[in-house]
This record gives sequence, structure tokens and C-alpha cells, in this order.
Amino acid sequence: MKDLKNDLFLRACHRQPVERTPIWLMRQAGRYMPEYRALREKAGGFVTFYKDVKLSVEATILPRKLLGVDASIIFSDILTPLESIGMKFEFREGEGPVFFNPIQSPDDILKLRPFNRQDVYYVGEIIKGVNQALNREIPTIGFCGAPFTLAAYMIEGRTSRDFKKAKAFMYNHPDAFKELLDKLADMLIDYLNFQIESGADAVQIFDSWGGYLSPDDYREFALPPIKKIIKGLKRDYQPIIHFTKGVAGFFDDMITSGADVYGVDWMIDLSVVKEKLAGRAAAQGNLDPVVLYADKDVIKQKAVDILNKWGKDTGHIFNLGHGLMPDMEVEKVRYLVKVVQEESVR
Ligand code: CP3
Repeated sequence: MKDLKNDLFLRACHRQPVERTPIWLMRQAGRYMPEYRALREKAGGFVTFYKDVKLSVEATILPRKLLGVDASIIFSDILTPLESIGMKFEFREGEGPVFFNPIQSPDDILKLRPFNRQDVYYVGEIIKGVNQALNREIPTIGFCGAPFTLAAYMIEGRTSRDFKKAKAFMYNHPDAFKELLDKLADMLIDYLNFQIESGADAVQIFDSWGGYLSPDDYREFALPPIKKIIKGLKRDYQPIIHFTKGVAGFFDDMITSGADVYGVDWMIDLSVVKEKLAGRAAAQGNLDPVVLYADKDVIKQKAVDILNKWGKDTGHIFNLGHGLMPDMEVEKVRYLVKVVQEESVR
């Protein structure tokens, strides 16, 4: 598909026949790799890193070289496009993102600027650079954060265990909150279309915090703007992956979003996912990342268990239920990739 040497990932997304299950891993280019840490050192900081096209291309292709994964995900962050609409933030060591001007009142939403893709031109250059550097060996995945997850960061101002400030804003000002979600959806349509035009072979929407809502609130707030984004994307063969962390309570609702692939965490059984999708969409996941701290024989067993839950049908992309962590061992991650690629041969 699309001049790619290895298009297993795209075929699995479209539920076309595959010789084995494709695998890539969320946060596959990260601090657990010494080579990543060297690039980050060179860049000086995380923001200067993801704005540096050359270094970001190098980071993006590390997992292909070191792990042999079947897809690349561009090196960037879900917060990247927020600078264009006027949000100011930095990433602090050990703390994550911190905003200088969080949204504190409904009036602050009116002050947001319209999104301009020229402000994120470097993301397009990274996609082009990756496609060139890998010589179209494997597909390139672009991504964005889901409106609810981005709004949660914009209001909370930093990462949080319960996002209580953001959710209290949502309960106190539901109309203003929906207006914010709608603005973000419009921004993300433009942002993802820009990534597809730049050469992304697939795009993933990360709703990392959607699972912290009740099913009613998920249906009212988180889901509608995702449906709007999916409707607004102009694509040809490029699949859309919709990932939600903590989705077990409303998986039936999630799968109405219109995506081609649903990404799930480890708190839902993959055989339940398969049964509910009933051949209407593909699934991505769902190994508990913490399994990678266990011994190799455990890693193999847990990976095979997941492969068995899906069976030999197409439509499954192996991944973790959430991202790799900075203190994981590269050797074990490489082992997981190898085991999945060997054990899933049809
Ligand atoms: O998956 C990938 O490898 C692609 C790149 C990617 C990053 N962040 C790189 C990153 C992607 C897809 C993300 C998504 C992201 N970013 C999410 C959603 C996915 C998830 O994990 O739930 C969220 C919530 C963020 C926001 C964010 N970025 C936080 C909370 C943090 C700090 C936590 C941490 O791990 O340090 C980041 C920083 C970040 N994003 C790093 C990387 C490689 C670490 C930066 C560094 O210090 O080198």
C-alpha cells in the first residue's frame, strides 16, 4: 500500500489479510533509550528538541533501527499545537508540562487565537524527513491529543492525578467548556489534515484522560468533538486510530466515533473488544506496559496470551495499553517486538 516496503500495519488497520501481527509501541522513542537521551542532550530541552526537525527525525526513526517495529510515530507532543492558539507552557524535569497562562474563566477561552498551521510547519517537515530517511520502509503515524485531554491540561495547568480543577470547570461552565472543546476540534481537524498532507500514513487521536469521566460525561463532553474531528479529516487510504485510556466503562460509546482502529488499555479483555467490534473496525493494544519489568518468559507468555485472544484473524495491531516508561530496559522491549513478530506468523 502506498509504495511502502512493509505495509502490515496499514493492512491490519483496514482488516486486510496479514502474514503476521504488526507491532509498534506508544512512547517507543523515549528516555529509556540511551540514543534518545543523547539527542535530547544535544537539543537542550524537550521543546527545543521537538522543534528541531533534524533531531526529531533522528528520534522518530530510532525504534525502527533499534527495535524493528512495523510503524514509526512522529516525535512530538500532544501539546505542540497549543502554542499557536496562545497557550504558554514549558516542560519541567520530572514534572511534565506546566502552563503559565492556564484557562481560569470562560473569558479566557474567548482570548484564544485561531490556529495557524504555519506555527507548526516543523511537524510537517518532520513527517517528510522521516519518510525520506526511512525510504518508505514502514508507515509513519501522525497524532494529536483529543479535545478533552487537551482542555484538561489547559485548565489544570499541569498534569494531575484527578484533574479536579478541569472537571470542576466543566461542571460549573458546561457551555463554555463545550465551546473550548469545539474550538480545539476545529484546530485539530486542520492540524491532522496538515499532517496527512505532509505524508502521514495514519493518525492517532490520544484521549489519555477521557477515561476519567463518568459514562454520561464521556458521552456529553469527550466523545462529540472526537466524532467531529473524524468527520473533518480528508484522507484517502490513511486510517484513524482512536485511543482512550480507561475506556472499559464505555467502550460501546467509544466505538461509535467513526475511527478505523480503536486503541485500548489493558483494563479491558481483548476478546471482549473483538466481540464488540464484530469485524466493523480494528483494535490496537493492549499489553500492560508494566509486564516489561518482569522476566522474559513472563513477557513472552503475556504477549502470546494477547495474540491468542485475538486469534489469527486480521484487524489487530499489537501495542501496549499505555506508553513505555523511562526506566524500562531496551533489551526487554526489543524482546517483546521479536516475540510478537515470531509468534503471530499465520
Ligand atoms: O508515542 C510516541 O513515542 C510519540 C511521541 C509522544 C510523546 N508524547 C513524546 C514525549 C506522544 C504521542 C506523546 C503524547 C502525550 N503527551 C500524551 C498522551 C499519551 C499518554 O502518554 O497518555 C500526553 C498526556 C502528553 C503530555 C506529556 N508530555 C506529559 C504529561 C509529559 C511528561 C511526562 C513524561 O513522560 O515526562 C510529556 C513529555 C514527553 N512527551 C516526553 C516524550 C518523549 C518526555 C520528554 C523528555 O523529558 O524527554
